[in-house]
Amino acid sequence: MVVIGGGPGGYVAAIRAAQLGAAVTVIEKERLGGTCLNVGCIPTKVLLHSAELYTAMKNEGPGIGIFADNLRFDWPTIERRKEGVVNHLVSGVEGLLKSNGVECVYGEGRLTAPSAVEVAGSEGRRRIEADAVVLAAGSESSIPPIPGLDLKDPDIVTSDGALSLDTLPKSIAIAGGGVIGVEFASVFASFGVSVTVVEMLPQILPNVDGEAAAILRRSLESKGVVFHTGARLERVTREGKALVLDVTAASGPVKIDVEKLLVATGRRPRTSGLGLEAAGVETQRGRIVVNDRMETGVPNVYAIGDCASPIMLAHVASREGEVAAENIMGHPTVMDYKTVPSAIYTLPAVASVGLSEEAALKTGGKVRVGRFPLAANGKSVLSGDADGMIKIVSEDRYGEVLGVHIVGGPATDMIGEGGLALRLEATLEEIVSTLHAHPTVSEAVGEAALASWGRAIHLPKTSKTV
Ligand code: NAI
Repeated sequence: MVVIGGGPGGYVAAIRAAQLGAAVTVIEKERLGGTCLNVGCIPTKVLLHSAELYTAMKNEGPGIGIFADNLRFDWPTIERRKEGVVNHLVSGVEGLLKSNGVECVYGEGRLTAPSAVEVAGSEGRRRIEADAVVLAAGSESSIPPIPGLDLKDPDIVTSDGALSLDTLPKSIAIAGGGVIGVEFASVFASFGVSVTVVEMLPQILPNVDGEAAAILRRSLESKGVVFHTGARLERVTREGKALVLDVTAASGPVKIDVEKLLVATGRRPRTSGLGLEAAGVETQRGRIVVNDRMETGVPNVYAIGDCASPIMLAHVASREGEVAAENIMGHPTVMDYKTVPSAIYTLPAVASVGLSEEAALKTGGKVRVGRFPLAANGKSVLSGDADGMIKIVSEDRYGEVLGVHIVGGPATDMIGEGGLALRLEATLEEIVSTLHAHPTVSEAVGEAALASWGRAIHLPKTSKTV
């Protein structure tokens, strides 16, 4: 099997196929780990970790009896640590592939026929024949055609550039209030940068439960982030050292003067140069067309991850990689997108799985919602991390859980319980009768389920107990 692309989709597909006995070659044109490890999930979370500790020390230190004189941060050190963590994890992937007997070839891979790949690398061209090919080429930033939005200007960056700034700017505007937009807004605001977010739709994080997105917005606003929602970026003009953004907001035209602009308006599948036409692989709106076995229309050619998937997330790509590898090796498996968790690394964090309240209502059935504020959870209060809530959306007939939404605390780690609940088609009753250890934030999951019936123990009595 040959895999084109060594990101979290490609390298997982390679390892799984090797476990099942395949001879596997991975072709990578840059570094193993893809966007996730090199310029995505991992480096952004390294910056966020520093932001989190710095903010906690600054805001809570004296209150919890910890004093640090002359508390400050050093951006170059944070950047160096980020490089160190990335290098460590990339070499970890190299080691894993090696231990599984997977060969890595560096260069650009291209299908020349359904069963042949040509690699153009520093040592020339090489042709590799395979029984199966997995396309896992990832995605790239998508730049909207807005006058003046020119990435040749060093002050206009995508997430790649925003991850390796030599110094922090005094001010930054972010076009796009999606996942990348809010994660960077959170990091920059924590380090004292003045941040303005311009989002086209009425809600930041348009795909997230409305109530959860509103809590995050309020929290970021309290840290000084300015949001323009329902706002269109019309033009970018350079005026001396500043960038001037013309924005049409609901309230009328707005001009924003900033030092830097981060473009975070989405990503698009990377498919050019893969030789798709030569092999007869079909695309639709830029994405490789696959079925739920991750098969393209061409026998023995599979595609996984951002270049093919309806959901651009590392953990989705990895699962799709396993599905492709298992099908190739004769173990029929299908991809299921119903229980894909989402983890957004802001301060506070937002995590969810399943249907938002809005989406559940659209299904037409009767919906029940239970909420529990972290302010009523002992562990959250003692950790000084009580800004947030847990919300469980269920259907009314059997109490089956349809969605779990968490804002604040260890949301991104706790969403696992929600994912398992959805996967096992759990009911509210089953969540309630699952003991949650005390004192933990996870107790709030049980309380949110109880709150669906007005029976939360640690909330004031309500009139509508069921
Ligand atoms: P996104 O699709 O999450 O958000 C893009 C936002 O930009 C949308 O809200 C859209 O309405 C807005 N937009 C589009 N054109 C605009 C314009 N001209 N002016 C103003 N707003 C505009 O895409 P994003 O944030 O760039 O992330 C790319 C991908 O990477 C996503 O699929 C995301 O899920 C993934 N990602 C996931 C992370 C996580 O799970 N923690 C972290 C970072 C990225």
